[in-house]
Formats: sequence, C-alpha cells, structure tokens
Amino acid sequence: MQANPEAISHRIQVGLAERSYPIFIGQQLLSQLADLLPRLPQQICIITNALVASHYLATVRDALPASCKVIVHEIPDGEHGKSLENYGLVMDTLINASFNRDCAVIALGGGVVGDLAGFVAATFQRGVAFYQIPTTLLAQVDSSVGGKTAINHPGGKNLVGAFYQPQAVVISHDCLLTLSDRDYACGLAEIVKYGIVYDADFFAWLEANQQPLNAREPQALAYAIARSCEIKAEIVAADEHEHGIRALLNLGHTFGHAIEAECYASWRHGEAVAAGTAIAAHFMLQQSELSSAEVERICHLLSAFGLPTQAPHLSESQWQARMQRDKKVQAGRIRLVLPTRIGHAEVRTITDWQPVWTAISALTSTSS
Ligand SMILES: NC(=O)c1ccc[n+]([C@@H]2O[C@H](COP(=O)([O-])OP(=O)(O)OC[C@H]3O[C@@H](n4cnc5c(N)ncnc54)[C@H](O)[C@@H]3O)[C@@H](O)[C@H]2O)c1
Ligand SMILES: [Zn+2]
Repeated sequence: MQANPEAISHRIQVGLAERSYPIFIGQQLLSQLADLLPRLPQQICIITNALVASHYLATVRDALPASCKVIVHEIPDGEHGKSLENYGLVMDTLINASFNRDCAVIALGGGVVGDLAGFVAATFQRGVAFYQIPTTLLAQVDSSVGGKTAINHPGGKNLVGAFYQPQAVVISHDCLLTLSDRDYACGLAEIVKYGIVYDADFFAWLEANQQPLNAREPQALAYAIARSCEIKAEIVAADEHEHGIRALLNLGHTFGHAIEAECYASWRHGEAVAAGTAIAAHFMLQQSELSSAEVERICHLLSAFGLPTQAPHLSESQWQARMQRDKKVQAGRIRLVLPTRIGHAEVRTITDWQPVWTAISALTSTSS
C-alpha cells in the first residue's frame, strides 16, 4: 500500500548531500509510517513519555510492520526528562534488549523527547538510524529539523550533545489538537522568529492568518509548519554546524535564555523567546535601525498569539551574568541577533552594555 498522497500536504528535503532527508507534513500520518518510512530496520526503539504515549503510541505501534521487534522506553515528562540519568536508562533498555547497530530510534514527542532520543541515536553503538515524529508545535517547526541533539547536565541545559541528523521527520499536525494552549503558543513564537529573520512575506502571511492559526485550522497550520521547515532546512543546509547564518535562528534567545534560567518554574522557552524578541526589536528602535511601525508589528503579532512582550523583573547583574554565558559570546563580548527590518537580521557584537540595559528596562513589566 502507498501512503495516501492527500494526507501529505508538503514534502520538504533537507539538503545535506549523503545525509539529506525528507520532512513529511500532513494529517493522519502516524498511521502511515510503514509507507512513509519503507527502510525501517527490524529492531525499533520508540522513545516517548506517558502523556504522548496515551494519545499516540498505539497508532504508531500499529503502523509499524508486524515483523519488527519494537520496544518502548518512556522518559518522565518535562525538561528533566533529558537528563544524564534518563539517557543512561535508555542505554540500559537498548543493551538489555540486545539491540545492535542495525536498530532504529524513533522519537515520539516534543523537543525534550526529540533531543534525548537524537543523542541516544547518535551515541548508541556509535550511531544508529534515527526518525523524528514531533508532536508539539515547537518540535514540528524547530527542534526536530536540523540535527541538534542534546541532554542537560546539572551544570546547564544542553551541555552534552551532538549534531546528528535524522533519516526522516514525520509531522502530523493533527497531533497538535491535544496540545495545551500554552505549549501551542510557544511554537508560534518560533514561527514568528522565521518571519522576522528571514521572510517578510511569511511575516505578513502570519499577520493575515492570526485567527485561523489561533483556531489551529489545518490548512493554515500546514502552511505555517511547512514554510518554517523550509526556512530551517535552507539555513541548516547552508550552515549545519552554526558557524554563520544558523545563528540568526537565535533571535530573542540570548535574552530568552536569561529569563528561562532565572524564572525556570514560571516561563516556558517560547514565552521567553517572545519577550526576548520584543527586547531585541526595541533595542534596534533605540539605535534608529528599526522603525517604530515595525516594532509595533512584531509586538502586536506576538501578543495576538498570546505571547508576552514584556520581560520579568530581574536585576541588571542577573541579566548581565546570564547573557555572558550565552554560546555566542566571543572574547567576553555579548553577541546578539538583531532585526534590521522585518525579514532580515544580523549578528552584532555588543561593545556597550548601557543601551542593552536601557532596552531591557524599557520592556520590563512592572507587575512581576
Ligand atoms: N534541538 C533543537 O534544535 C532544539 C530547538 C528548540 C528547542 N529544543 C529543546 O526542545 C525542548 C522543548 O520542547 P517542547 O517545547 O516541545 O517541550 P516538551 O517536549 O516538554 O513538550 C511540552 C509538553 O507537551 C506535551 N506534549 C507533547 N506532545 C503533545 C501532544 N501532541 N498533545 C499533548 N501534549 C503533548 C509534553 O509531554 C510536554 O508536557 C527543550 O528541551 C529545548 O532545549 C531543541
Ligand atoms: Zn527556541
């Protein structure tokens, strides 16, 4: 049986020579895995968590060829799922099941599952086949594409990891209907990011489609996911290991990581990125490099998606210390991704902290 072509609305290729791979986007794709992924090996380990498993595991298992030996490893839900300890437990599962180098790891879940499963696939037996089935909007538009895999160390987030590309990414956006409003909005923050740094027309399309996107309408979702994946695929193909243009995907993230680290319990990644994006835009307004009309458009779109555009109250030293730990820092200097217009951004080295602090202060919420 062939995969139902009507269920696949978009097929995007990530062009990385012999490591190129397809991204399938559509609806009800989980039940068509055997057709979409005809080269699956005989030994398959699905990594997921209990919440995602309760919705989608049965469909995925039923869709895999009956001849395959399938094992399932559930990790705890939440960011602590991608810990060194849970990484070790997955390795135990694979080794106890006598899985060999010809096995495949399937990530079924959000970015936490995907990041851990990818690192497992990169390192078990020095690397085995890896498939991504992302189930959050953030994972569908960002973390499942591009090959960054990582786990957390007590010393910090994503400190242990590898670049390891999947063999394929299967995005079934009907999975998003069970996602919480808050997690859904977090994915929209990354989608807005692509418009700001890379594609003014896409940004305008997002403005015109706020209502259908907030209602999770299938057609609007399929296009928003497909365009985001196309942009990410183009950027990754040009700069897989982030020596240049890929850094643009960190718009809002230097500010955002500071917020996430200081307000871990109350702010999600996408929310922190949204506030960070607003600060970056405001900084450029102060520098007279972005018009007030464009800053308003950015903040308005983020707000329309239910995202914050104000930062929580943190001290100047907290901000500075956290931003100094950013991976883009070079020779002690903070480097920021800054929009010069909607559809274009640049990485700039900051030589004077004061205007950065002025932008942060101007966008700090007085109520938190
Ligand atoms: N590798 C990359 O390039 C990259 C990029 C961005 C973020 N990340 C990582 O991704 C992680 C965040 O990912 P996330 O936002 O997807 O968080 P997540 O994986 O924690 O998922 C958010 C919540 O949604 C639940 N969930 C997942 N799918 C669901 C569904 N279909 N229905 C209902 N609930 C569902 C999860 O169980 C979880 O409770 C972070 O660890 C971050 O570092 C990685
Ligand atoms: Zn992000």
